[in-house]
Amino acid sequence: MSQTKRSLRRAQEIAFNANAHLPVSYQEEIYKERLKFDKKILSPREIERRKILIFGGAGYIGSVLSGHLLGRGYKVRVSDGLYFNNGITVLPHFDNPDFEFLYGDITDKDHIETVLKNVTDVVILTGLVGDPITKKYPRESSRVNDRGILRLIDSCSNRGIARVIFVSTCSNYGLIPDNISADEEYELSPLSLYAKSKVAAELHLLSLKGVVDYSATILRFATAFGLSSRMRFDLTVSEFTRTMYRGEDLLVYDADTWRPYCHVKDFAEVIRRVLEAPSQRVDFQVFNAGGDVNNATKQTIVDIIKSLVVEAPVRYQKHGADPRNYRVNFKRIREAIYFEPSMTIRDGVIELLSALRQGLFLEIDQPPSFYGNWTLPPNVSR
Ligand SMILES: NC(=O)c1ccc[n+]([C@@H]2O[C@H](COP(=O)([O-])OP(=O)(O)OC[C@H]3O[C@@H](n4cnc5c(N)ncnc54)[C@H](O)[C@@H]3O)[C@@H](O)[C@H]2O)c1
Repeated sequence: MSQTKRSLRRAQEIAFNANAHLPVSYQEEIYKERLKFDKKILSPREIERRKILIFGGAGYIGSVLSGHLLGRGYKVRVSDGLYFNNGITVLPHFDNPDFEFLYGDITDKDHIETVLKNVTDVVILTGLVGDPITKKYPRESSRVNDRGILRLIDSCSNRGIARVIFVSTCSNYGLIPDNISADEEYELSPLSLYAKSKVAAELHLLSLKGVVDYSATILRFATAFGLSSRMRFDLTVSEFTRTMYRGEDLLVYDADTWRPYCHVKDFAEVIRRVLEAPSQRVDFQVFNAGGDVNNATKQTIVDIIKSLVVEAPVRYQKHGADPRNYRVNFKRIREAIYFEPSMTIRDGVIELLSALRQGLFLEIDQPPSFYGNWTLPPNVSR
């Protein structure tokens, strides 16, 4: 058997093993799709030579995604402007011949031209992430999250790119009644600059159906938790767990508000699934990404942590600055690509506690901004 045939066979084995828990009919659909992809886009390279460009691949979710895709045999190129001194996250992959890191800003046309060359698929995770930081830096937010992202979405066309995955947020639902769980058709009501930019980008991308030559998918992510080489302690589950573990005073605003959560590892898996799904299942589709099991109130999260950490002082206050309240329905993604999260909030809290107990993340002031999207370095804060 020739070397090419052997590596093709191995690639197919990896693909089947990774999907072994899925229905056989779906595995067959994926397999046929891969062969089709291979012929159309990559010929004569083998299936696992798809090269995925991850914008924002050095961030909290991106650094986990990079490792996940490399582990599945993909080639990965990361483009990142390292806004949070987070270059260290790409170091573990530097000597991997399947990995490439290109430093640059998404608003730099030359950088975009360079990074979009010779890739088969694009995942857009980049941007100024979160309500507080976009509120603090509105001009930078508009430069990156509005103009930058829209131009990036346009730039992916006419380059032989097969799929573009745009990562959006369930924050787009804003404030919804307690008895409702929003599906993808539920009216969007973005409350922050951050969510407004995401909604604008979604609408722009959806308007390109039939205009661009790539297949696009929008994933509205739940709020993330879980370990990453760029931890973020400005996100509820990790912030609460760390604060309570350290026995520090935790002030919880609007404890009864709902939000969906999802582990970063599961986000990496959902992106892999979209990259590999038969195209008719994901083409120009919008999906809530997460699982019904991880819709929770802040009070539930506090209770989970309390059951695992002794004597943590918690105070409560009503009418905080963040009015968001949304429960989300994840039926569509479950039925289209059989995605269900593997990690519950409790699993994530246990995981983080085990890291804290080993002395990790006790000091988070250094390097500045690494552990949360609190401030931008002077060169990017306008
Ligand atoms: N973390 C969450 O809870 C969550 C929830 C819903 C959706 N999302 C979405 O997931 C994606 C990733 O989020 P994250 O938590 O990993 O955020 P993050 O801030 O850790 O990562 C974003 C990355 O983008 C880079 N970046 C920012 N602006 C850039 C620019 N102009 N040019 C080049 N690089 C730039 C940063 O350096 C950083 O590495 C975002 O699109 C976010 O909206 C995240």
